[in-house]
Amino acid sequence: MQNFEFQNGTAIIFGKNQEQVVGKQTAAFGKKVLLHYGGGSIKKSGLYDRVVSSLKAEGIEVFELGGVKPNPRVDLVREGVSICKKEGIEFILAVGGGSVIDSAKAIAAGAYYDGDVWDYFIGKAEVDLCVPIGVVLTIPAAGSETSGGTVVTNEDGLYKRSTGHQNMRPQFAILNPELTYTLPAYQTACGLTDMMAHILERYFTNEQHVDLTDRLCEGTLRSIIANAHTVIDDPTNYDARAEIMWAGTIAHNDLLGTGRIGDWASHEIEHEISGIYDIAHGAGLAIIFPAWMKYVYKHNVNRFAQYANRVWDVEIDLNDLEKTALAGIKKTEDFFHSIGMPIRLTEVDIDRTHFDEMAKKATDRCPLGNFVKLEANDVHKIYELAL
Ligand code: NZQ
Ligand code: ZN
Repeated sequence: MQNFEFQNGTAIIFGKNQEQVVGKQTAAFGKKVLLHYGGGSIKKSGLYDRVVSSLKAEGIEVFELGGVKPNPRVDLVREGVSICKKEGIEFILAVGGGSVIDSAKAIAAGAYYDGDVWDYFIGKAEVDLCVPIGVVLTIPAAGSETSGGTVVTNEDGLYKRSTGHQNMRPQFAILNPELTYTLPAYQTACGLTDMMAHILERYFTNEQHVDLTDRLCEGTLRSIIANAHTVIDDPTNYDARAEIMWAGTIAHNDLLGTGRIGDWASHEIEHEISGIYDIAHGAGLAIIFPAWMKYVYKHNVNRFAQYANRVWDVEIDLNDLEKTALAGIKKTEDFFHSIGMPIRLTEVDIDRTHFDEMAKKATDRCPLGNFVKLEANDVHKIYELAL
């Protein structure tokens, strides 16, 4: 096990009606607040009105910036940064999913920076001071509600890039599973896939003696798998929605990665797809993760066989571990398909046109991954396997 420091300071406020406390929570950080949200789902559901009245009840002055698109764009971030600078915003409240939260984090960092906020995403500047942010989460998926990272797309060149800092972690995250009842089945499934991918990225490590975190990963995966069909077939099932919402946070709050080095190649390979084709991140992962598994499993067949056995109940064949490993990969792929995810690029009308460009862009800073280091030609082969 590697040495590690673990700190995750985001207060989790979980359960029914918890958004009622958003005004009180926010008032502890400031009275000038930027309310940041997406394309309208929070207005349709009535959440917007409840949040605004809770903020106003605390005497908070509310500035608004809606319109965050899935795969959030840097142009809107720049708009948010200038509102923060002009109005002296003291706190940013993100109400929505990963895209809204990531956009809020980028605004939070840009508000204290004289240069262009995109500098943070291309290694030209390092994030330091940030306006504090809070979250009311409406989709369990990205785990951004407690992570220190943000992923933003620049339409100039179609680059989807990430950056991160401890100061970006939200101060609080309000998680009411009832707020996820309105999610379309497709978005629910994208979220399930993304949270599973966050665990798998950490699970496939070269580190030895990480039994505790292996089993925490396996347990969280099993819990997601056990509740997945219920949240899709019975979207207002509170108990299942609650399990999934908490799992989405646990999957990405860094606990499951303690003492081990995660891989993260599949995320980078996927970001090139959603950066160019603007598909949902979770859908991209359902296509890429099994392809990555097929490409790298021989590097540690034992680990893949353990995954197959402990997560998918595949019986271990000691005479043919490769068979066990491959059965686990097949189970993963079949599961993604069973919840309505695409598992091939052709299902989302993506062909080879941009493979060269995507493979080059994915590896333009360094080889990808830690489980197996991947160069552009490897990434290209993974795109081929995903066709
Ligand atoms: O924009 P609105 O109208 O709110 O609609 C959203 C959006 O269309 C809708 N939605 C959200 N909650 C809803 C709802 N519709 C009905 N009822 C609700 N309760 O869902 C759509 C998708 O929202 P989005 O925020 O894009 O989803 P998600 O949370 O999956 O976030 C995806 C983004 O997060 C990034 C991804 O790359 C992607 O850009 N990630 C961020 C990470 C991080 N910061 O730590 C890690 C992840 O790996 C990921 O890369
Ligand atoms: Zn993800």
